Amino acid sequence: MHQFEPNEFIEKSIRGIRERVGNEVAIAAASGGVDSTTSALLGHRALGEKLTVVFLDDGLMRQGEPDAVLESYRALGLKTKLFNVSDDFFAALSRLSDAEEKRKAFRATFYSALSKIVREMEARFLIQGTIAADIVETKKGVKTQHNVLEQIGIDTAKTYGYHLVEPLRDLYKDQVRLVAKALGLSPDKISRRPFPGPGLSIRVIGEVTRELIDLVRKATAIVEEETEGLQCFQAFAVLTKDRATGLTKEGGRLYGNMVIIRVVDSINAMTASPNRVPWTQLDRMRSRILDEVPSVTRVLYDITPKPPATIEFE
Ligand code: XMP
Repeated sequence: MHQFEPNEFIEKSIRGIRERVGNEVAIAAASGGVDSTTSALLGHRALGEKLTVVFLDDGLMRQGEPDAVLESYRALGLKTKLFNVSDDFFAALSRLSDAEEKRKAFRATFYSALSKIVREMEARFLIQGTIAADIVETKKGVKTQHNVLEQIGIDTAKTYGYHLVEPLRDLYKDQVRLVAKALGLSPDKISRRPFPGPGLSIRVIGEVTRELIDLVRKATAIVEEETEGLQCFQAFAVLTKDRATGLTKEGGRLYGNMVIIRVVDSINAMTASPNRVPWTQLDRMRSRILDEVPSVTRVLYDITPKPPATIEFE
């Protein structure tokens, strides 16, 4: 089999982006994750100042994320603009509880928001970090990944007014990381744990509200902090729709929230296995979640591999 050569890939994709975009203006949609950051960097190498990186704050990100991402992009020399569009997302997601409906509402809101920005900036191309695993899973009908459009017959030029450029569409996560390394991205960014495009909206099972997002955001931060030194692909918290009976500190009844901790090992997200997190670490996460998120009465650990489960719950 032909060995993957990141430098060869980088040169080829820079040439490809230049040919495709020509003298037009382009924007890159980026979230701080390794896929979108790598594709934005390729865009920057190809187009220089003609490229603006757009960061949509959808209100569904991890704790402190928008500010940290903006700062890191500026440090990388990327011309970046932040747009706060969280109201649009909460409005689009309100009263939806089916996982696929939520994903489709997220996708429509995301690309419509970008559509306005693209028009304002008179751009004609949108560079994004879709990778092969996203496309495979969406085409198989496993789940609608937010960033797969043309491959399932959505004409973005007609629907949203811009053409897509997807430099990483044939690569899997492990190859993207090699490209990121060759582009000089720092090790913490390269090994950054994946975070789904629809963010915390798919980590609250069922209907999404700002309150429930805040709850899962806190639990997620605890799981991430307590697994910092642990070698794993992804570590996060999920808030279930079900509740469980428990006790208040005063000994009364509390019909509270139920949080599931999920920590998995994987190479490319196509398969995954549950990480054997040491009990002391699980215990610390449980204790902090119960202390810091007082509406929670139960914390569970998910031991299901992919398949038959997927990594995310929705
Ligand atoms: P699943 O849940 O399908 O997830 O096993 C595989 C990997 O993809 C991430 N994921 C997404 N990433 N848009 C993305 O950019 C999405 O809609 C999306 N859904 C899941 C997930 O976190 C895991 O790393």
